[in-house]
Amino acid sequence: MDKLLEEIYSMDKTAMEEASRRVMLGGGTRGMPTIVRGKGVRVFDVDDKSYIDCTSQSWALYLGFANSELNSTVCDHISNMSHVHQGFDTPMRYYLAKLLTDIAPGDLNRVSFTVGGGPAIEGAMKVCIKNTQLSREFLCLYDSYHGTTLGIMGASWVSTRSSGKLAGGSRFLPLTRPFIRVPNAYCYRCPLGLERKNCDLACAKMLEITLNKGVAGNAAGLIVEPIQASAGQIILPKEYLAEVRRICTKYGVPLVFDEIQTYCRIGEFFAAQYFDVTPDIIAMGKGLGAGLPIAAVIISDKLEGFEANGEELHTFANNSLAQVSAIKQIKMMQEWVLDNCRKQGAYLRQGLEKLQLDFPEIGDIRQAGLHIGVEMVKDPVSKAPAPEETAAIRKTAMKNGVIFGKSGPVNHIIKIKPPLIVSREECDEILDVFGKALKTVLRD
Ligand SMILES: Cc1ncc(COP(=O)(O)O)c(C=O)c1O
Repeated sequence: MDKLLEEIYSMDKTAMEEASRRVMLGGGTRGMPTIVRGKGVRVFDVDDKSYIDCTSQSWALYLGFANSELNSTVCDHISNMSHVHQGFDTPMRYYLAKLLTDIAPGDLNRVSFTVGGGPAIEGAMKVCIKNTQLSREFLCLYDSYHGTTLGIMGASWVSTRSSGKLAGGSRFLPLTRPFIRVPNAYCYRCPLGLERKNCDLACAKMLEITLNKGVAGNAAGLIVEPIQASAGQIILPKEYLAEVRRICTKYGVPLVFDEIQTYCRIGEFFAAQYFDVTPDIIAMGKGLGAGLPIAAVIISDKLEGFEANGEELHTFANNSLAQVSAIKQIKMMQEWVLDNCRKQGAYLRQGLEKLQLDFPEIGDIRQAGLHIGVEMVKDPVSKAPAPEETAAIRKTAMKNGVIFGKSGPVNHIIKIKPPLIVSREECDEILDVFGKALKTVLRD
């Protein structure tokens, strides 16, 4: 092994963890293992304890850790080049742009690359503004999460009282945009207190009412996660998204799908295809680069895009290494990974439904591919959220070798989002550890 790597890998664990706490500003969640390596869906901590990682590291490692097929292509390429200024054309950038427009829905045929999810949403907002001159208001949904850069933090639930108290994002309000929020179609816990069977999509009606009465001028755009991830893995109903599409078209409001968490993870390339609803703009990030940072905005032919006049310029927006990684991953998705994602997702769902028979505290299971949320409640009648039990289940599972995610403004949703290469045997292990954690926390 390279001498420098040897030195880094062999740092003293306790000293490093302590020093890290002093040196690092925020960013981490205390109580998570210190990771030194990974292989496939597993990570290994400093004591060589192995965990199946159902967080895919910010839900971004679709091919898991150290994928040899991916690495072979990426390592070959890095011996050639990596970073390229945005002003230079390269075959890598064109190849990826072409591939993305081939797999994107409808007339979404033009791409702009950027450096992360937040900047991708902001890029989408710039396109919206260019195409709706004089409009300035953006809309988003209750409990949405679109990032924490200053331009978008105001659209993320962390700027609201969603969790019962104002969260971190609210500190930056003097500089963040005020977004207008409309109700989300969270049918298990409808914010309007209605039932899906006879609600007549009142939440979509609220969007239309807001566009008429709650916005000064025309709105510049509506930003929607088709599956609201951080909000609690909320799968917006297809008919709701279709109605949102109809309303946006009627009022000339560009519809932006934030597909930063849905890309590939739902067993299709885009949620737009999964729900058969085509937005005007798709923003992507996270898993796009198979672990290397890259994000993108894909826009409709109907929209005016960016010009090369500095209106959208980022030093690392043309990283050829991340582009090659993204291309290779798309090929692997087409060969087998999307199919595996659908199969293992359905298998996990079956297993969770079985567990729900014994543990009615599993209030709701929301699954699309390997985008899975399990909403934990005190009991299925009151549906009172169970954040303490959720934290304990997660902790117990971690002790037994599976890292689950947690989400929802009050942290009572277990997220099961392993890399998309997870095998059936690994799904069995995930279900087994989850079942045992439920028993330990809720019954013993
Ligand atoms: C749906 C969604 N949009 C946007 C973002 C922001 O992406 P990034 O953290 O890369 O800025 C995230 C990140 O978690 C996300 O989940």
